[in-house]
Amino acid sequence: MAANLVGLGFQKGVAAEAILSTYSAEGEPNAAPMGITLKDEQHLTVDLFNSSQTYRNVKTNRCAVVNLTKDIEVFYRSAFKEANPNGKLPPEWFEKAKLVNAPKLSFADATIEVSVEHLELMATKVTMKTRVTFKAESIWATCMFPQAHSRAMCLTMEAIIAATRVKIYLPDQKQEIRLAKLLEVINDCHQVINRVAPNSAYSQVMDDLTQRVESWRKQK
Ligand SMILES: Cc1cc2nc3c(=O)[nH]c(=O)nc-3n(C[C@H](O)[C@H](O)[C@H](O)COP(=O)(O)O)c2cc1C
Repeated sequence: MAANLVGLGFQKGVAAEAILSTYSAEGEPNAAPMGITLKDEQHLTVDLFNSSQTYRNVKTNRCAVVNLTKDIEVFYRSAFKEANPNGKLPPEWFEKAKLVNAPKLSFADATIEVSVEHLELMATKVTMKTRVTFKAESIWATCMFPQAHSRAMCLTMEAIIAATRVKIYLPDQKQEIRLAKLLEVINDCHQVINRVAPNSAYSQVMDDLTQRVESWRKQK
């Protein structure tokens, strides 16, 4: 049976966390976690911060690959490139996609090659974002057993997202309350993860993330 977006778990109005991979104008591969939502059977949307490398790459090449993985380390290392040796994602993570001018993750459980159909600027007082509508050009998926879920996965993702925002708000004195809330989220997630998944990939990511956030606060 051919894979389709709904079969892969995408739902209307529900952001699914995936890794979006793209090439820069210079052909450098990049990957970052992004929340992807089903628009209809053939289209996906994502709201990208205009400050992200992913946004610049999507605007330049007008395509990307949506990669599905359950590897939490990939979410962490693609959100924070500085968590990798030499501060760069390993080149061996990437191989060229078949149809679009974008790389795909060689170890992904599923890949969706997508082309840009529409870009819509969504400016608020605090942020500049662009809603990108992608058309699915080609879908590939491995056959897998059903997976048992651990809440450690969602909690670690939540903490990583919170940390990406801490990095943005830290230099801004006016964002003190928002910052305190984000730090509380990271701390709460860390405590539950240590209880439900001690000595796991999740707790390791959380230990590293907590140290990273602490070092930003010291540098401030
Ligand atoms: C699970 C998860 C979901 C995320 N979703 C989005 C998103 O929908 N849009 C966005 O702009 N950033 C999102 N981020 C933050 C980016 O991944 C992060 O800012 C990253 O450093 C951007 O990398 P880039 O500059 O290479 O594009 C998310 C992060 C995580 C961990």
